[in-house]
Amino acid sequence: MKEPERGKEILYLTRQEVIDIGLTKKDILELVRAALTEHGNKRCEMPAKIGIHPLRDTLMHAMPAWVPARHACGIKWAECFPDNYEKYGLPQTSGLMVLNSPETGWPICILDAIWVTAKRTPAVTALACESLARKDTAVVGIAGAGVQGREHVLVLPEVLPKLKKIKLYDKFPEVTRKLIADLQPEVSSVELVEVRGFEELVRGSLVVVTGTAILMTPDPQIRDEWVEPGAFLAPVDFDSLWEWATFSRADKFLVDSLDEMKYFMTVGYLPHGLPPLHAEIGEVVAGLKPGRERDDELIIDMNIGMGVEDVVVGREIYRRAVERGAGTILPL
Ligand SMILES: NC(=O)c1ccc[n+]([C@@H]2O[C@H](COP(=O)([O-])OP(=O)(O)OC[C@H]3O[C@@H](n4cnc5c(N)ncnc54)[C@H](O)[C@@H]3O)[C@@H](O)[C@H]2O)c1
Repeated sequence: MKEPERGKEILYLTRQEVIDIGLTKKDILELVRAALTEHGNKRCEMPAKIGIHPLRDTLMHAMPAWVPARHACGIKWAECFPDNYEKYGLPQTSGLMVLNSPETGWPICILDAIWVTAKRTPAVTALACESLARKDTAVVGIAGAGVQGREHVLVLPEVLPKLKKIKLYDKFPEVTRKLIADLQPEVSSVELVEVRGFEELVRGSLVVVTGTAILMTPDPQIRDEWVEPGAFLAPVDFDSLWEWATFSRADKFLVDSLDEMKYFMTVGYLPHGLPPLHAEIGEVVAGLKPGRERDDELIIDMNIGMGVEDVVVGREIYRRAVERGAGTILPL
């Protein structure tokens, strides 16, 4: 047990220390389920992000959140610079989280947030699949074989019991091949297959996840007619790859936070706006609004990521770190 002294110290956790805490896929799914349930029931405080945008298609966002039921409050400062990989060999998504004491307000922990972002985002997709994907989904398509592509490959088999095949497409074929070489042994019940383009990816897939790059002006490379009846589409990169025709004909269109979407529109993203909203995903996870009701419904859940997910997962990492004396205590 190693707790920072109130008002005098903070705990600092590096990325490796965050990973070494060892939250499992099931832990993360349950933490994210709790966060979404609180959000759905509006038992949390989470103003929409504010941010700065130093280069085109880049963002740095402040994501504060308070989830009383989990005693979790703090802020993630999250960045996305899509050209990082090509220019600097760095991941496009980075971030730091500050957790605060809800009693004193003082900061208690700073942790690297890359791992939390990497894990909680596909956990939201997975929980959405439970209610929104067809139960007989055997084939999934994933666009983008980067961090999000990898993490979705690891978690989707947990929630799709009939899953047999995941098709993968990335603009860099070697990235897809490396993903398959690295992860096929871990997901031995599901065949990972490289495909050569979006048409092959989307046709025949009852769940399609896109995790490529968030673009202010979409580059809709996925044609509406390729989308299967009854498909569940889960873009974590906004409308970047999708035709408006697909969005506008969805039987149910969901987002994680309407406030967040409205904010992004003020900055110039989502130029078509949004189709009529069925629900926020937390409302479905909380059982307040229906999920899939018919096999042939086209359902889209477009999530941008929420601070409530981050602080709930972050708080549990902090609790375990204190319990086992992990990390470095630093003076304030
Ligand atoms: N919604 C959320 O909560 C959330 C959280 C984290 C990341 N994201 C978003 O998810 C996306 C992926 O993030 P990441 O951290 O996995 O990035 P990453 O750089 O690790 O992976 C992105 C992959 O997509 C590929 N790609 C880019 N454009 C492509 C295109 N047009 N066609 C095919 N492949 C393409 C790249 O080659 C790369 O391998 C980003 O848009 C990011 O902003 C969303």
